[in-house]
Amino acid sequence: MKTTEIKPGIFWVGAIDWAVRDFHGYVTPKGTTYNNYLIMDDRVTLVDTVKHDFTHVTLENIKTLTDPSKITDLVINHIEPDHASGIDKIMSLAPDALIHITGKGKKGLDRHFDTSQWKFRIVKTGDTLNTGKFNLLFIETPMLHWPDSMMTYVKEAKLLISQDAFGQHIATSSRFDDEFVECASQAELEDSVVDYYANILMPFGELIKAKITEIQKLGIDIDMIAPDHGVIWRKGPGGIIRKYLDLANGKSSLSVAVIYDTMWHSTELMTIPIMQGIKDEGVDCNVIKLRATPMSAAIKEFWKSRGCLIGSPTLNNILFPTVAEFLTHLRGLRPKNRMIGAFGSYGWGGGAVREAYEEFKRMKLEIFEPGSQVLYKPSHEDNIACYDFGRNFARKIKEYHAKFM
Ligand code: FEO
Repeated sequence: MKTTEIKPGIFWVGAIDWAVRDFHGYVTPKGTTYNNYLIMDDRVTLVDTVKHDFTHVTLENIKTLTDPSKITDLVINHIEPDHASGIDKIMSLAPDALIHITGKGKKGLDRHFDTSQWKFRIVKTGDTLNTGKFNLLFIETPMLHWPDSMMTYVKEAKLLISQDAFGQHIATSSRFDDEFVECASQAELEDSVVDYYANILMPFGELIKAKITEIQKLGIDIDMIAPDHGVIWRKGPGGIIRKYLDLANGKSSLSVAVIYDTMWHSTELMTIPIMQGIKDEGVDCNVIKLRATPMSAAIKEFWKSRGCLIGSPTLNNILFPTVAEFLTHLRGLRPKNRMIGAFGSYGWGGGAVREAYEEFKRMKLEIFEPGSQVLYKPSHEDNIACYDFGRNFARKIKEYHAKFM
């Protein structure tokens, strides 16, 4: 058995998690990988560990190259448990290894492990490690996406090990982007990138743009980006950087996501003429029922479209719980550059649509008012009003979208 050499002397030694479907609440229908990398040189350097349950897998991969006790240096780019929870096992086998980590990373590790016997070197942007023929450069990336986060650039290999950034949650036997595209498709890969960005990195668009500019100013030459999840970008490192800039700038398609839930189908019935009105205005429309869709998939659909209409019945004078949950989750992701409106059915007092608009205002999104409401069940006249509501929203979306072109 041998593991993948991604650059001469640098090996992927990670693990593939084919089975994970719930990644701290983020639904991962395609599983994921925990990537880490071993640099075989005068000094033997492991960059990141893996999720604790998979430590035996990374150790088997390492053993195809060297005895784990020979590891002299351990770089911890990010302390979230999917990458750092295997560290105690690694350190038990290589107790003299020097751990290179940011100050905030060290503080986090101290809360998770007894680190008193471990040797640390606190690093910041610009600090380096010479392993023999390789020079590693550390680049802090605070809040991308945790305070401790950093990346490691291997100068002689033109390799950026980017931790979570540029990742995707895909379990695959393909280690590289071009391999994956050959056996699956470019569209599937791009969809996974958007899904990952929308659910993990959406709040950090401005930081991402600033960090990419900072890295470009460092003048480093990158011909491969190796993230800690999914495939390694060897064919298109420039492409994934451009894609991230597009995502950070809020680029989207001219389309509308109608995201709703329903009690006795009245709100659901409203989606039919609303969708038709949007479509007849020449704008694509995707209709997503929340109780039938994982939350993270609904978030991705929201982010892919320039506009969103939220549909909710009124329950006890407030939003339907699944819709409230979705909006709370969305607010935490701090979306920008999207237009949003609401519709829904009610029996007597109403309240869901009003609450939805209060939530939109907290999110500071571009708001389309007034919302559309139906008493009990849509009548023929209500269907016409819903159609007009969808059509008017689509007209506004076309105007709004043009500002981003
Ligand atoms: Fe893949 Fe932030 O952990």
